[in-house]
Amino acid sequence: MCGIVGYIGYNDTKDILLNGLEKLEYRGYDSAGIAMLDNDEIDLFKVKGRIAALRQRVDDSAQATIGIGHTRWATHGGPSAENAHPHQSASGRFALVHNGVIENYQELKRAYLDEVDFGSETDTEIIVQLVEKYAEKYQDTAEAFRQTVSVLKGSYALALIDKADNEAIYVAKNKSPLLVGLGDEFNVVASDAMATLKETDQYLELDDQEIVIVKRHSVDVQQLDGTPVTREPFTAEIDASEIEKGTYPHFMLKEIDEQPLVLRRIIQEYQDKNGNLKLDKNVRAAMKTCDRIYIIAAGTSYHAGLVGKQFVENMAGIPTEVHVASEFSYNMPLLSDKPLFVFISQSGETADSRSVLVKIKEMGHPALTITNVAGSTLSREADYTMHLHAGPEIAVASTKAYTAQVAVLAILAVDSAQAKGLNLDFDPMQELSITANAMEVLTDQKKTIEELVRDNLGTTRNAFFIGRSTDYFVCLEGALKLKEISYIQAEGFAGGELKHGTIALIEEGTPVIALATQEAVNYAIRSNVHEVVARGANDMIFSMKGLEQDTDAFVLPQVHELLTPLVSVVPMQLLAYYAALHRDCDVDKPRNLAKSVTVE
Ligand code: F6R
Repeated sequence: MCGIVGYIGYNDTKDILLNGLEKLEYRGYDSAGIAMLDNDEIDLFKVKGRIAALRQRVDDSAQATIGIGHTRWATHGGPSAENAHPHQSASGRFALVHNGVIENYQELKRAYLDEVDFGSETDTEIIVQLVEKYAEKYQDTAEAFRQTVSVLKGSYALALIDKADNEAIYVAKNKSPLLVGLGDEFNVVASDAMATLKETDQYLELDDQEIVIVKRHSVDVQQLDGTPVTREPFTAEIDASEIEKGTYPHFMLKEIDEQPLVLRRIIQEYQDKNGNLKLDKNVRAAMKTCDRIYIIAAGTSYHAGLVGKQFVENMAGIPTEVHVASEFSYNMPLLSDKPLFVFISQSGETADSRSVLVKIKEMGHPALTITNVAGSTLSREADYTMHLHAGPEIAVASTKAYTAQVAVLAILAVDSAQAKGLNLDFDPMQELSITANAMEVLTDQKKTIEELVRDNLGTTRNAFFIGRSTDYFVCLEGALKLKEISYIQAEGFAGGELKHGTIALIEEGTPVIALATQEAVNYAIRSNVHEVVARGANDMIFSMKGLEQDTDAFVLPQVHELLTPLVSVVPMQLLAYYAALHRDCDVDKPRNLAKSVTVE
C-alpha cells in the first residue's frame, strides 16, 4: 500500500523515479509525486491520478541526480494533488515520502507543531514538519531525522531529502516494507525490488526502527540509538520478463494463463530427485507436534486457507481453524495446548496478518508463513516459510497466487500425513500434474467464458455464486473476483443457506452461478439451483466431468475430487475478467484497491 522509490547517483533521476513508480503502481494509484534536488532547490511534481499523469506533469527539463517518489493509496485525506506525496516542510527545505499510518499524528501536531500551517490533510506531513523543527534545534539533519523517527508511533517507511544537502537520502522503516538497493556509484530505495530491478539486483533488508543514510558511494545502516548495523545484501531473484505484460492486454489475463506453469514449478520445487516430497524438516516436525492449526489470512488468501483446512483435516487429521486476520485479535479463539499458526499471504506484507503474527510470537507460539515473496516481513518474522513460486503477481486481483497457495497447502497436508505414518491413497505430484493439464485446457476456453459473460452478466447489477462443501469456498473466491474488478455486487453462499434469507434477493433474471464438482453434494446443489430458478434466476452450472447434466453451462475437465478448487476457480477468474472488460473497468487496477495492504 503506497509505493516509495528513491535514487542517488550521477544519472538523471527523473526517469528512474517514474519508471520505478510505474512498477509500484499496483501498491496504490490514486495520486503520485516526485521531488528532485537540483541546484540546491527541490523540484516538486504531484498529481491526483496515475503515474502516466505524473509523467506528463513532470517538466522535461528538470535535471537532478537525487530524488524520491511516491504512488499513493489514500488513508488520511482523500486523493488529491495536495495530499499526494512528497510533502514539504513549511520552509520548503525538506521533502518526504511515507508509506504507512502515523497513529499519534494528532498528538504530535498538538504537542510540537501548533503554530505550523499544514498544506495537506495527511498524517505524513507531521513527519516532515517535525524534521524541520528538530533541524532548527540540532542543526544536523541526521539527528533531526532520528529525533523525529523516535517519537513516531505506527507504521512507516520513509525517505527524506534535504535541499541543504544533496549528498544523502534519509531512510527509516517500521512495520512497512522498504529496501535499499546497492549499485556502483549510486544507491536506490524502494518498497519492492521490482521498482529498481533495472538498476540493481542487490538489496539490503531493513529491520524495524532502523535508520539508513543512503549516499552515492555508501549506505550507513544504524539502529535508532545510532549503533551501526552491518548486513549482507541479498540478490533479488526476479526475472525482469515476469514483471512485463508482454503481448497480453492485462497482467490478470497473463497471470491466469500462467497457472499451469506455476503448478508445474511447485511440483518441481517440492519434490526430490526420487519423486518424494521435499519439505523443510522443521516444517514437518512442527506439523507433527502441533495439536491444532490456526490459519490466518485475508481476502483471497483466506479463501485458499478454507480449502487448506479441508486438506489438512481430511488428509493429515489435524484439527484446523481458519481466521480472517483483521478479526483474530478481537475474536481470539481459545487456543489449544500446542498450536501452530499458518499465515497465508501472497505479498507477505499484509498488516492485518502481521499484527497477529507479532501477537502470537509474543505469546510464544510457532508460526509458518506460506508466501510468494521471499524475504517479506511475514516470512522473516515467522519460524518457517514455504514459498509459492508463483512469480511476481502484479494484477491487483489475485489469481495465480491463490492456486499456488492451494497447491502448496495440499503438499503440506500430504507431507504431514506421511510424517504421521498415515496411508493416503493419493499421489500429490501425479494428481497436481493432471490438474496442471486440466488448467491448461481451461485457459484455452476463454471464448466460451467470454460468451457466457456477454449473455448472462452483461448488464446485471448483482450475481450470486452457490456451492456446497469445497465448492462453497471457491464460490466465495469467485464472488470476490467478480465484485472487485467488475463492480457487480456479487456474493458467494453455501447452497443450503440461501433459503434462510438471501433467496429474497432473487428476481427475474438474477444470475446464479453454481459449482457442482463434488459427487456427495451434486444432487443437493442442483436442488438449490431448482429453488432459485423457480423464482426467476438465470442459472449457470459449472460441473465436473462425470457429474454433468445436459443443461449445464460449462463442464470442467476431471481432476481428483480434493483438487477441484484448482480447476473450478479458473473459469471464475475468467468470468470476472471478461465481466470487467465488458464494462470497461480497469482490470489490473480496480478502484479503491491496492495490492499489498500494509495498513490495518
Ligand atoms: C483479492 C486479493 C486480496 C488479497 C488480500 C491478502 O484478489 O488479492 O483479497 O488476497 O489483500 O493479501 P495477501 O495475500 O498479500 O496477504
